[in-house]
Amino acid sequence: MKDLTLKEKRKSVREYKKKKLSEEDRNFINELIQEKPLIAYDASLEFVFVEEGIEASEKLSGYAGYFGKMIEAPHYFAMLSKEEEKCVKITGYVGEWLILNALKNGIGTCWIEVKDSEQVKEILDLDTAKEIVALIAIGYPKKEYNLKNIYGRTKKGSLSTLTDLGYPNINNSFSKDVEGARKAINEIVFLNEWGNVPDIKELEERGLHEALFYMRFAPSYGNLQPWYFIVRSGEIDLVIEENKEISNDMQLLNAGIAMFYFEEGLHNSGIKGKWDLTGLESGSAIPEGYTLAGRYYL
Ligand SMILES: Cc1cc2nc3c(=O)[nH]c(=O)nc-3n(C[C@H](O)[C@H](O)[C@H](O)COP(=O)(O)O)c2cc1C
Repeated sequence: MKDLTLKEKRKSVREYKKKKLSEEDRNFINELIQEKPLIAYDASLEFVFVEEGIEASEKLSGYAGYFGKMIEAPHYFAMLSKEEEKCVKITGYVGEWLILNALKNGIGTCWIEVKDSEQVKEILDLDTAKEIVALIAIGYPKKEYNLKNIYGRTKKGSLSTLTDLGYPNINNSFSKDVEGARKAINEIVFLNEWGNVPDIKELEERGLHEALFYMRFAPSYGNLQPWYFIVRSGEIDLVIEENKEISNDMQLLNAGIAMFYFEEGLHNSGIKGKWDLTGLESGSAIPEGYTLAGRYYL
């Protein structure tokens, strides 16, 4: 699937119509989940669909959402996985895969922080030893962001022209808005070692520029965009800026989401490879306060 420009259009939806998902969209989502990336099995990841979202949201208030502020949605997915670092990263990776694919049918979503997994399990009546790492709100967007507009017109020649990518008429009218809140490529990528900012030409020669361009649109907790890439010959390190203000799980989700986005971008640029998430040793010095979260082998 060619998802590059969908990434530019993706936006967290915080206001939903009360209407539940249509049967067609439920089938679409169910089929998607059947086809989830194989990496999901490494985390024993489960998506539990919460049918009565509006009712649940009142009870969840205080236990999920920024500052305990729940986002009211007709449904949620509870993302269950083991409480291991690798599993939480995989939850981010696969959750974001679901989000990007749901967008193709105009279905809105938003990651929601889970502050108290045990309470949330009790409220949702889930008897499981796994942890609820996060919730994903799901439904049709209200006025805030009409996803149907992604099928509008686009400017010829822009990076988001998707004619050759299977989405011929995508509207880029939201891109400035979203892009304005994002870091520039040269703020997130280093060549060979930390601090060595490459020329965009060098990234172009390596075919990495598009993947990095679209990477910037990945969602992150509080829009912190904590990701950095160190490009070396044959491998790329993902480094995440640590943040004492937010939970470890949210930081690991940020890392997993970044991995999905970047890998997708590379695949769409015709670059094969795979992430290694464990047993990593930094190939170059990383400053204090930053963690090596994954290494992509090209
Ligand atoms: C792990 C994670 C947890 C998040 N939790 C919440 C949340 O609890 N409430 C909320 O309103 N947004 C939440 N968000 C959404 C981010 O605020 C949003 O992705 C970011 O501000 C960028 O905006 P965009 O997604 O519209 O591009 C979360 C995002 C991530 C990645």
